[in-house]
Amino acid sequence: MNYSGFTLWFTGLSGAGKTTISNGVALELKARSCPVEILDGDVVRTHLSQELGFSKQDRDINVRRIGFVASLLSRNQVIAIVAAISPYRDVREEVRHMSENFVEVYIKASLQTCEQRDVKGLYALARAGKIEYFTGIDSPYEEPLSPEIICDTQCLNIRESINKVIQALEEYKYIP
Ligand code: PPS
Ligand code: MG
Repeated sequence: MNYSGFTLWFTGLSGAGKTTISNGVALELKARSCPVEILDGDVVRTHLSQELGFSKQDRDINVRRIGFVASLLSRNQVIAIVAAISPYRDVREEVRHMSENFVEVYIKASLQTCEQRDVKGLYALARAGKIEYFTGIDSPYEEPLSPEIICDTQCLNIRESINKVIQALEEYKYIP
């Protein structure tokens, strides 16, 4: 089987489900013998982007770095899976053009829902003024206008979201 690489870019608020769903999609793709690499914002920030914070300027650098690495992987037949808030539309458009094949997945959940979930306790810290530039609180999130895939995690459970992504990739003929 001849695979072409592509970049599968998950964007959404903190706590929307990017990491969980992207990991599930990666497992599913690996089970189909597809070569996959994951670039998760949280992980990239402990390696490639250690010195960066969360100002627009720093996020833009971070997102461009991730886009660049994804382009290197995808042009070498690897499926580059990105899970990063990537809150700014203009830079998401930029990284879209870095990879020849690019699929944007909007992991959608309202701020209220993410804040109620508060899996990492970060929303509480942000509300208490202990973290600055927190996405959705004092830093913007610009929703994608026409993403290839939307997973509304208030309506779909994790398995349903993973299946929706895999099904869409089949329909786009990115995977057999
Ligand atoms: S970005 O905007 O794409 O550069 O962000 P990303 O690299 O994906 O990093 C997001 C994770 O960093 C943690 N964190 C914060 N997120 C948003 N705003 C602020 N101020 C912040 N501080 C720390 C948080 O764990 C994010 O992970 P996710 O998985 O999105 O919850
Ligand atoms: Mg995450």
